[in-house]
Amino acid sequence: MPLVHMADMLKHAYRHSYAVGAFGVVNLDFVQGVLQAAEDCRAPVILNLIESHFSYYDLELLMPAVTVAAQRAKVPVAICLDHGANIESAVRGIRTGCNGVMVDTSLLPLDENLRLTREVTDMAHACGVAVEGELGYVPGDEDEEGIKIPGGLVYTLASEAKAFVERTGVDFLAVSIGTVHGRMSGTPKLDYARLAKINEAVGIPLAIHGGTGLSDDQCKKLIANGVAKINYYTALSEAAANSIKANVSPGQKSYKAITHGVRGAIRAEVERCIRLWGSSGRAAEVLAQCRPWREVEHIVLYNQPASLSEEAAATMVIRSKETLAAIPGVRRVQAGTAVNGENRRRCWLVRLATPEVAASFSNHPEQLKFANSLSQQGGADRAAMDFELGE
Ligand code: 13P
Repeated sequence: MPLVHMADMLKHAYRHSYAVGAFGVVNLDFVQGVLQAAEDCRAPVILNLIESHFSYYDLELLMPAVTVAAQRAKVPVAICLDHGANIESAVRGIRTGCNGVMVDTSLLPLDENLRLTREVTDMAHACGVAVEGELGYVPGDEDEEGIKIPGGLVYTLASEAKAFVERTGVDFLAVSIGTVHGRMSGTPKLDYARLAKINEAVGIPLAIHGGTGLSDDQCKKLIANGVAKINYYTALSEAAANSIKANVSPGQKSYKAITHGVRGAIRAEVERCIRLWGSSGRAAEVLAQCRPWREVEHIVLYNQPASLSEEAAATMVIRSKETLAAIPGVRRVQAGTAVNGENRRRCWLVRLATPEVAASFSNHPEQLKFANSLSQQGGADRAAMDFELGE
């Protein structure tokens, strides 16, 4: 249940002048460390799945655990795809369980950035999913030293920000005002005057990328100027690595012994951030004011007519699974036959990300094609219905 709409969560933070931490997670130690810290502080929190990390872990394998952890958390949680490169990334993020997507086409010329961000916003909003776009460019790579990374910082122009937000329809805007991803040597210099102007121009929650290395004072000034989401990863990675290094000794052969402090190290650093950024103690009011995330199960029951051969039916099932699964907002498609040996009685279970998806799914051309193909068989008998499952 504590999985909530990210737009509601960040609007609350923006209205009440605090920032929610969007913490990059790469395995269960990160997921559990972040959530334990959020529960200890009674804070809303965002679990960030950063696309550049997908070569390190299997997203489809990690996401079911992330989703279960979020659902059983005692604080409001949102799950965000971070730095999705294009609409395919965004569709994949929503399919695997993200309920917010950040699209990063910020290195492209403005027109392209606008067009591609709009494309993602149209798709994601039809699925009930909030979108963060980026204007300007925050350089660097998480886990790396910012100083080594080629490619310069491009500041967000306040004069472009309003039109960008209006034309793309994004819910949150990632701004470039001096931060970099990864660890920078020295403290970054931030342009607060620029941030204030952007905030005044757009009036929506702003996001800061490259949270690692910011001083306490810098964080407070960012939040005072409209920042409602701070992305944070490199310092968590360093905390985990330092914990492992401290546990390694020549005779130590146990993986569990070497890694046992990782979760606690992440938890301590996340707790420090949460208290500093003002989200501590906000969980109850956020829960009361945010829409809970609700998935829908679309169920199809089908009595296969005698005229349809087993081979034709098998082909139809394979095709239907492929085409339905490709519809944005569809999370899983399963097909099966009755257990009593009546294999001409078939069912499909289609998990949809939200009621918004359910509303558009029934009229989607691929769904209509599928429904018609079932109905058009002589003597066919088909029923379909949407269900919202309880806890
Ligand atoms: P850091 O790794 O610098 O904390 O930045 C993380 C980030 O911005 C992810 O989008």
